[in-house]
Amino acid sequence: MLKRTKRQLLIILTLILILSFFHIIYKYSTINKIEYTFYIDDNVDRYFGTKSRYPQKSEISGANLNINSKFKLKQVQLVCRHGTRYPTGTKNYNEKIEYLKSFLYANSKSFPKKYEFLSLFENPYNESEYGLLDVQGIKDMQNLAKRALHRYSNITQTIEDLSNIHIYSTNVTRVVDSAAAFISTFKIHIDEIHKSNATETKKLITKHFNEFQIIEQNEEESLSIDRRSVEYNEKKINMLLEEDIDNYEDDSSFFQNDELLKYIEIYKDRSKDIILSPHISCPLFNEEINGDDRTEINNNIKELENKYIHSVINNIKKKLNLKEVPNVVGESIMSICIFEVALNNTRNKFCSLIDKISLENYGFYEDYRNYHIKGYYNEINQWLATPLFKEIINDIDKEILKDKIKLSVPKKNNYNTNIVLRFAHAETIFPLITLLGLYKDKKRITMKDAPPKDNYKFRSTDISPFAANFWFELYEIETKYIIGYEPKNDIIYVDNPFNNQNVTNILENLEEIMEEEEFDKTRKHSTTFVIRVLLNEKDVVIPGCKPIEIVDLATREKTKYNTICLLSNFKQLYKNILNTSIDEYKKKCHINY
Ligand SMILES: *[C@@H]1O[C@H](CO)[C@@H](O)[C@H](O)[C@H]1NC(C)=O
Ligand SMILES: *[C@@H]1O[C@H](CO)[C@@H](O)[C@H](O)[C@H]1NC(C)=O
Ligand SMILES: *[C@@H]1O[C@H](CO)[C@@H](O)[C@H](O)[C@H]1NC(C)=O
Ligand SMILES: *[C@@H]1O[C@H](CO)[C@@H](O)[C@H](O)[C@H]1NC(C)=O
Ligand SMILES: *[C@@H]1O[C@H](CO)[C@@H](O)[C@H](O)[C@H]1NC(C)=O
Ligand SMILES: *[C@@H]1O[C@H](CO)[C@@H](O)[C@H](O)[C@H]1NC(C)=O
Ligand SMILES: *[C@@H]1O[C@H](CO)[C@@H](O)[C@H](O)[C@H]1NC(C)=O
Repeated sequence: MLKRTKRQLLIILTLILILSFFHIIYKYSTINKIEYTFYIDDNVDRYFGTKSRYPQKSEISGANLNINSKFKLKQVQLVCRHGTRYPTGTKNYNEKIEYLKSFLYANSKSFPKKYEFLSLFENPYNESEYGLLDVQGIKDMQNLAKRALHRYSNITQTIEDLSNIHIYSTNVTRVVDSAAAFISTFKIHIDEIHKSNATETKKLITKHFNEFQIIEQNEEESLSIDRRSVEYNEKKINMLLEEDIDNYEDDSSFFQNDELLKYIEIYKDRSKDIILSPHISCPLFNEEINGDDRTEINNNIKELENKYIHSVINNIKKKLNLKEVPNVVGESIMSICIFEVALNNTRNKFCSLIDKISLENYGFYEDYRNYHIKGYYNEINQWLATPLFKEIINDIDKEILKDKIKLSVPKKNNYNTNIVLRFAHAETIFPLITLLGLYKDKKRITMKDAPPKDNYKFRSTDISPFAANFWFELYEIETKYIIGYEPKNDIIYVDNPFNNQNVTNILENLEEIMEEEEFDKTRKHSTTFVIRVLLNEKDVVIPGCKPIEIVDLATREKTKYNTICLLSNFKQLYKNILNTSIDEYKKKCHINY
């Protein structure tokens, strides 16, 4: 009897223990849940589309080319979006922010203590600064330039002067400033290198560039090239780079000086800049966006905008104990959150008012809008980048042929294309994405893809954050290393890329080459060329390109490269685009000059 009670007691006790255990677990998990809604997601900016910060931790890791030494780097070409900018001030931006300020002030009595700081909110933007490059944008460019100096040291070491580099920019202040900040970083390095004794420095540079392989852009935005290295003039270089930042902070026209501008070829008239501002110079782009058949898409965009604004408003009502919040306040709070992150990396102020669902809604609004305006839905985008693409390929051809041509000195400089840098806009990056077929979904993005069902590839945050960049790397390799190498149609050359600005037509000189060298387009070469494309410093697989397989003749070891494409293969993929004439392009674009 007693035994039985004891046993029952034991069972009850166990039950109690189990129950309290579950209770604790439950309580703990609900605490977690509650905290979660206040938890500030460090990756909030993955929802911010074209207003995202450039990924801080770049995977490029400086000098790490991640390629077999049989590939010899010949050329790099950059297509870069400007760095982080201020809001553009469109759609009465300033009025909205001023309204937000008075709204927060008038309602501050109901705010919980945690949010009292909002009542002191001041418009952080000076109207005269809208659209300009932010100091963060200068840092974006300096850091990108420094990583390029390391990664491409085989080429950058050989540059004697900035005039050896081809640099292009659109006629927009923030873009010219981006170009200037980038090349100023190059210049500071080149000058320091050449100031010291040439042979001595060469040794140091080789050591410096080759030994320390990993360079990352750390959280503090450190400007030191390599924290582990205290080599020679790094301190001085960093000091000069900081000076650039300070000077720009004091005077936003700092980079608009002749010293740097003389190296930059600015496409002055944007209405004719088909290379870097196709969205401005091709009238069809805007005709498409505003066309009659666009009513449904434009209504959807409006609907998605309202959706994110309303979810932000719900967040604000709850967190600030408010009953009525006008749309304009919801919209402005999202915008301030986005720019606090972009400009200042601040995530615990306005962004702490906004929950994950609102962020997801905003992210989808960005993606849907970009997809339908700058992306695949707008079919003209697939060839809007045609002039730019032809110039890139033409510059590749020049590089390949430059040693084969006997030219006068000024003409020769035109063929000096080891490094080509182009600075432009998100509207330059997106068409190039669609031309190459990257981030392409099998099915069009529709309203049905809205979160939480968001399994699509076209992520504007990944594609075109601030300082988004394409690198086109050209390598030479001996054909004996390439498994299954086919000499047929090895190199095809591209005709004049629309004769814009001062671009040389490679084919104009082809006859000269043929005479000189008995040039044969299809002869079997002992070396050939391959191309690798990087988007935001990560190599991308080119759709339709056959991966290249390399064999080590000594060990018979094979290596396959999915992101390296034979140049001939690459050109074949886009042969229709490369074969488009200027007249065809103008006709398609509704250009009538
Ligand atoms: C860079 O130059 C070094 C030294 O000449 C060479 O060994 C290496 O293969 C080159 N790398 C590339 C990618 O061209
Ligand atoms: C805005 O910037 C301009 C030019 O830099 C300056 O003159 C003006 O005082 C600034 N306004 C405010 C409110 O800071
Ligand atoms: C540079 O260094 C080399 C070897 O250290 C020396 O022979 C040469 O005279 C130096 N040149 C100058 C200009 O200092
Ligand atoms: C270039 O842009 C500036 C500033 O926006 C403008 O004043 C100038 O007229 C532009 N140049 C041309 C040739 O359009
Ligand atoms: C910018 O960031 C710094 C450091 O994180 C912070 O102290 C400052 O308040 C921020 N400024 C704004 C306007 O958010
Ligand atoms: C481009 O061409 C114009 C006129 O054709 C000329 O004045 C200018 O110097 C050229 N620029 C370069 C960088 O060659
Ligand atoms: C390019 O177009 C021309 C005329 O439109 C045509 O004759 C030629 O065969 C085309 N070339 C290629 C490689 O498609």
